[in-house]
Amino acid sequence: MEKIIVKGGKRLQGEVDISVAKNSVLPIIVATILNPTPIVIKNVPILEDVTVLINLLRELECEVNFSQITGDLIIDTSNLKEVDANSELIRKMRASFLIMGPMLSRFGRCKISMPGGCNIGSRPIDLHLKGFKCLGIDSEIGYGYVESKVKKIVGNRVYLDFPSVGATENIMMSAVLAEGKTIIENAAEEPEIWDLARFLNSMGARITGAGFGRITIEGVKSLRKPEPFTPIFDRIEAGTFMVAAAITNSKLTINGVNEQHLMPNIEKLKECGVHCIVEGNRMIVDGTGEKKPVDIKTMPYPGFPTDMQSVFASMLTIAKGTSIIVENIFENRYKYTQELNKMGAKITVEGKSAIIRGTRKLYGADVKATDLRGGAALVLAGLIAKGKTQVDDIEYILRGYEKLDYKLQNLGANINVE
Ligand code: UD1
Repeated sequence: MEKIIVKGGKRLQGEVDISVAKNSVLPIIVATILNPTPIVIKNVPILEDVTVLINLLRELECEVNFSQITGDLIIDTSNLKEVDANSELIRKMRASFLIMGPMLSRFGRCKISMPGGCNIGSRPIDLHLKGFKCLGIDSEIGYGYVESKVKKIVGNRVYLDFPSVGATENIMMSAVLAEGKTIIENAAEEPEIWDLARFLNSMGARITGAGFGRITIEGVKSLRKPEPFTPIFDRIEAGTFMVAAAITNSKLTINGVNEQHLMPNIEKLKECGVHCIVEGNRMIVDGTGEKKPVDIKTMPYPGFPTDMQSVFASMLTIAKGTSIIVENIFENRYKYTQELNKMGAKITVEGKSAIIRGTRKLYGADVKATDLRGGAALVLAGLIAKGKTQVDDIEYILRGYEKLDYKLQNLGANINVE
């Protein structure tokens, strides 16, 4: 089993290039199912989650070519066959449930095993199925699987009780080739939703309002071959490097940022005493100086992202004072705090809240990644801990961070995957 070894205490310096967003690429890969023609996606990051989806499409007899040198991913779903309900690959990853919408659009039925993914909460699918129902799609949940069927998908108004990212994407994709108009109310506003709509529209879909709470999809009869498509930068990876600068008292240049998408991070870091200057797609983060404690509540976008919660927590362990985090999106997202406490952090969890009492020093320890972003938090803590930190179970981290070790090494960190 691979592990990450970090020897703490080094200041970072230099520039880092941010990859394309994992959470954009995954739904975009799935959306190619809607259009049986060769489609090129550019700058695709080499990530375990991407590999799982590529293997899933190959299992379904799609032609997939991924050049790890250029980052060009070419997918042709012309020969797509129906999905096997027992597919191990579906169980591996939550995002594979997004295959439902496009599959229903292509075949009128889809039976898959219940989705897996990071262990950060119950992650139900009721909102996906509620949306499908509004479009005329009937679903049945069996033991460990879900089966949906429809004769013809017909557009309708869908109200989401909660602005779920996955449900918004699944419903949007199933409505692209539907008869008539679909309106999603209380839709998720995450930038990755906007990006998926941009991709679908590049193939001739008619989607407006994506990125806002009300999305309209006018069904079209067919899609055309799109131009090669480049998804947006990864705001969570960028945020992780912003915090890497802050926690190590360093000044870093981050290439590949969108200021608007990073607003919650920029504002919270400012409260901590960290200044970020953005020029175009480039950000300079001055993380030198003492860190002030801050309170954080995770919210759907444009609120503070749940995916940044653990990473900020690791920095707040060394802030001068007490910070409080309230996690409002996933109920089980504090497992990493026990690991941080092994390194000398002082975090107490009470229900949705984590109380972080700042301490002067962290100490290297043997810890394990409990989920993707929690794993990243441990690596950041390792950068400043006295001595050696060993992070086990790093397959979680490799799911979502492209070359994290290599990028940190380039900035001067003493980090290796062994
Ligand atoms: C996506 C992101 C993930 C991020 C999350 C929230 C991808 C691949 N993953 O996950 O990184 O942390 O958004 O920003 O893009 N819910 C229901 N019923 C449903 C669906 C969701 O109750 O049918 C609840 C979930 O339990 C959770 C909340 O809605 O409490 C948000 O989940 P959702 O936005 O769907 O997250 P994902 O799409 O799984």
